Amino acid sequence: MQDQPTRSDAGLYKLLLERVKPYWARLAFAMALMLIVAGTNGALAFVVKNVVNDILVKPDPVMMYMVPLAIIIIYIFKGAAGYGQNVIMQWVGQRIITEYRIALYAHLQRLSMGYYDRKPTGELMSRITNDVNMIQGSVSSVVTGVLRDVFTVFALIGVVIYRDWFLSIFALGVFPLVVIPIVKLGRRLRKISTSSQETMADVSVLLHETISGARIVKGFCREEYEAERFAKHAWRLFALRVKDVSTRALSHPLMEFLGGMAMAGIMIYGGYQIQAKAITPGDLMSFLAALMMLYEPVKKISSLNMEIQNGLAAATRVYQLLDEPVEVTDKPGAEELKPPARDIEFREVSFSYGAESEMVLKDINLTVPVGQALALVGTSGGGKTTLVNLLPRFYEVTRGAILFDGVDIRQVTLRSLRSRISIVTQQTILFNDTVRANISYGRPEATEQEIRDAAQAAYALEFIEHMPAGFDTVIGEGGVLLSGGQRQRLSIARALLADRPVLILDEATSSLDTESELYVQKALENLMRGRTTFVIAHRLSTVQKADRILVMAEGRIVEQGRHEELLAQGGAYHRLYKMQFRVDQGLEVD
Ligand SMILES: Nc1ncnc2c1ncn2[C@@H]1O[C@H](COP(=O)(O)OP(=O)(O)O)[C@@H](O)[C@H]1O
Ligand SMILES: [Mg+2]
Repeated sequence: MQDQPTRSDAGLYKLLLERVKPYWARLAFAMALMLIVAGTNGALAFVVKNVVNDILVKPDPVMMYMVPLAIIIIYIFKGAAGYGQNVIMQWVGQRIITEYRIALYAHLQRLSMGYYDRKPTGELMSRITNDVNMIQGSVSSVVTGVLRDVFTVFALIGVVIYRDWFLSIFALGVFPLVVIPIVKLGRRLRKISTSSQETMADVSVLLHETISGARIVKGFCREEYEAERFAKHAWRLFALRVKDVSTRALSHPLMEFLGGMAMAGIMIYGGYQIQAKAITPGDLMSFLAALMMLYEPVKKISSLNMEIQNGLAAATRVYQLLDEPVEVTDKPGAEELKPPARDIEFREVSFSYGAESEMVLKDINLTVPVGQALALVGTSGGGKTTLVNLLPRFYEVTRGAILFDGVDIRQVTLRSLRSRISIVTQQTILFNDTVRANISYGRPEATEQEIRDAAQAAYALEFIEHMPAGFDTVIGEGGVLLSGGQRQRLSIARALLADRPVLILDEATSSLDTESELYVQKALENLMRGRTTFVIAHRLSTVQKADRILVMAEGRIVEQGRHEELLAQGGAYHRLYKMQFRVDQGLEVD
């Protein structure tokens, strides 16, 4: 479950900035618009002096029209520029988020089986949906608001200083007092945010497992238990949300209080100044107006820190996934693998699933001539599935090598290797799509006739034609609308159509009833014809027909040979045979 080490905040900023770079021209334009918005805010505070002095205190016939006209013009500019910059910045923000989402998914597709083993599906889904949304929230609000607010603050401070520099030192002296609690609150929020995202991921895991496993939940009457488990997470999320909001809510009253104190002080000093005729009432009002207008952008800038902390917490999780190294990849200069012509060899192969786990395969030596069928038998957990999973490099050998015609499979491209191998497993994996799309998954360019032929050879044509829309019938998630035997025959048709020289059958018939097994068995025989096959089987009938049988126990090959030879030895195979045969007699009719 170990994640990649987290990046520093500075590192994350740099990466986020790199994503922004391609849009610099738009951003520059938006910034120009922000300068206009900031300028109009300053101008509004500035004209307050004229409103007070020339309209309220001593009305001036010209100014009575000029000032309102100026205000109208200022608002037109403010509105147009504000709209423009908002739309542009949102566009950039959404765009960056979409790129992140796509990059995450593409990276996820490239990650090796080992990573999928370690991470629950729901958690991975949560990274692409929740965590990226979280970045979206903060990127949008950060990029849309930050510069406009900063510019506005500068414009207003300009007005404040221009009106009365002495007063402004007093008024602006309050600001540093505001900064300290804001930084502290931001840190707290970051922690809350990380916990919420982890909880969201837990919720996703739970949802994915219990929704896709609804049959088992119902079968074992665990609905209430699962509902309680969900409620526990939901309440935890509630507690975190409340903590989050109350932390955010704290910053506003804090700032208002400090702002109010400054106001009060200014009024006392300003009142004396007006009495002494040192300043006009317009000066004081303009000063106060600028100060009040400062409140909004400063508030936004202060909550910006919180948004940034949120975004960084999300970005940390996103980059943990993006930084996850792809364990199995092409070597530089990897070549195309040719179809095997001679043999497939395991040379001194040992394998363990993790650095600390014990070896699941130990010193396997094995040569399978092209076109032969090799049967793997043995007790459960003996390492049969692990052995065949090494062929398409779902996992990389820990020691030793696997060679196709003498070429180490680590020296060739993954694509060329995997396109030589078909796999049919006990657990059929079909997608919620049409029968046709499922059969042609490994060869999307196949013609209608080829798809039909494959279905026929897989003994699937008959039931497909009985389906409501034939080859266009959608089969439900994982093929739930089909029986086990039908699903298996579809996956055999898929393997037949892909037409690859090496075939892996991992207990392809073991979950089927006798009648479907008969069909599947025949379909498999069609599929095995002319291919180098690794077949893991429980049924004696399949094993007997193999060119060679390998008996595995505890990660080692303990016996190998043909059926009669092994029986005669009276060893592990003989014991297995006796056990299996009794079972088979009860189940098989051939
Ligand atoms: N993805 C995995 N991660 C860690 N250990 C595994 C994994 N898959 C299988 N194992 C372990 O490897 C051993 C061999 O399993 P497997 O190859 O599935 O046996 P078989 O197919 O012969 O029943 C077992 O002890 C099992 O617990
Ligand atoms: Mg297995």
